[in-house]
Amino acid sequence: MMQHDVEVPCMKFRLATAAPWWRPANGNLLRIQGGRPLVGTYPISGAKNAVLPLMVSALLTPHLVTLRNVPANLDVAVLAALLQRLGCEMHWSTRAGDLALTLSADRIRPTGIDADLVARMRASVLLLGALLARCGEARLPMPGGDAIGLRAIDFHIAGLRAMGAVVALEGGLIHAKAPAGLHGADILLPQPSVGATENLLLAAVLADGTTTIRNAAREPEITDLAACLITMGAGITGLGSHVLTVTGGRALAGAVHGVMPDRIELGTLACAAAMTDGELMLPHGRLDLLGTAAESFAAAGVDLRETEGGLIARRANAGLCGIDITTQPFPGFATDLQAPTMALLTLAAGASTISETIFEQRFRHVDELRKMGADIAVHGRTARVRGVDRLRGAAVTCTDVRAAAALVLGALAASGETVLDGLDHLDRGYDRMTGKLAACGAAIVRTDG
Ligand code: UD1
Repeated sequence: MMQHDVEVPCMKFRLATAAPWWRPANGNLLRIQGGRPLVGTYPISGAKNAVLPLMVSALLTPHLVTLRNVPANLDVAVLAALLQRLGCEMHWSTRAGDLALTLSADRIRPTGIDADLVARMRASVLLLGALLARCGEARLPMPGGDAIGLRAIDFHIAGLRAMGAVVALEGGLIHAKAPAGLHGADILLPQPSVGATENLLLAAVLADGTTTIRNAAREPEITDLAACLITMGAGITGLGSHVLTVTGGRALAGAVHGVMPDRIELGTLACAAAMTDGELMLPHGRLDLLGTAAESFAAAGVDLRETEGGLIARRANAGLCGIDITTQPFPGFATDLQAPTMALLTLAAGASTISETIFEQRFRHVDELRKMGADIAVHGRTARVRGVDRLRGAAVTCTDVRAAAALVLGALAASGETVLDGLDHLDRGYDRMTGKLAACGAAIVRTDG
């Protein structure tokens, strides 16, 4: 059996090609005794969804790219292993709790991508744009990731073809070539896809000529990627808007870049503070990072106060109350906050309606929350939640990364003990969550089961 030891400071995972494919150093079950208020400071890590494209951006230059504020999570570990296989050198360092990663893609090859690792992570599709641009070729198995919907990559492929790539899809493999190099193009995305916008941005900065990406996604993680690329010397305008214009073809230098705070972790912990009737200081948190979710949280009774040091989150004096939400691209209500918010609303007075418009199968946490006593009915892509007085501990399974967060929130607020398995999903997206919650008063331990 092929094994990869992926070591990131603060954690060690063994990734294997056969089950159990992943083994954490610190236990595969999470036990939470609920009912304790969370009080204290919960450090918000660098954003998972920002650091992954940022790591891939290092493939675009032979010079050193140093990322600061890197979250120690399983997705970062998997991508680090993938990049190493491509010949990218990694150097990790920690200073005053800040995890930094320096990548050197001086000598890389576009082949040798590990199919099993790619199958673990959707974001590996970003290798396509970067490798095509730098090496003129990329061979990649179809990417995996959370089972939350179809998650096609047709927008990515169509955009790269418009830039001159020849792309063949055969037997679950993507083979893309651009023997004469990529050229600029005018690309209209059918939907503002986060991944497609990032992939095309990565390809466009080295392509010859000007590329315009219309109906681009506006998620803050895209602006973070563009900011790093600009530091490397790329010409990009329209940051934060629906139209990105890239003047390509410039040789890129290295960069030092701090990863933006994780707005999904921020919103999730704000819910946790309100659900447990505690008070959390969330350093580096800002309301603008949450988009319209900030207003939804206020309406639901999650009190968020912006201070110089970050956001202070607590339950409003009037208590939690039901709201209606519909997930939308940024700045609309983030689909990644849908599951944690559903956990919050299971304890809110009255009824709530949650409509999921981004992914087809993003209610897999519902059955698990029901095991804890939640009153939720699903009709198609809409869930109706009736608040209950309390949740009770149960044995539950994490089914995707944000579902895992929702179950942790339910467990923290529930009476009695909850035991969670399927922790690879939690570890994919949350940096040292157990220790951070314990430091804020949660009764939480990782054990082997
Ligand atoms: C990213 C985030 C994920 C978040 C999502 C939406 C990362 C690593 N992941 O995922 O956490 O939930 O944005 O904010 O950043 N689509 C197509 N064809 C394509 C591309 C997308 O049909 O070629 C569809 C998808 O199936 C989905 C929708 O567009 O229904 C949005 O997907 P997209 O924005 O691309 O999400 P990801 O980049 O996969």
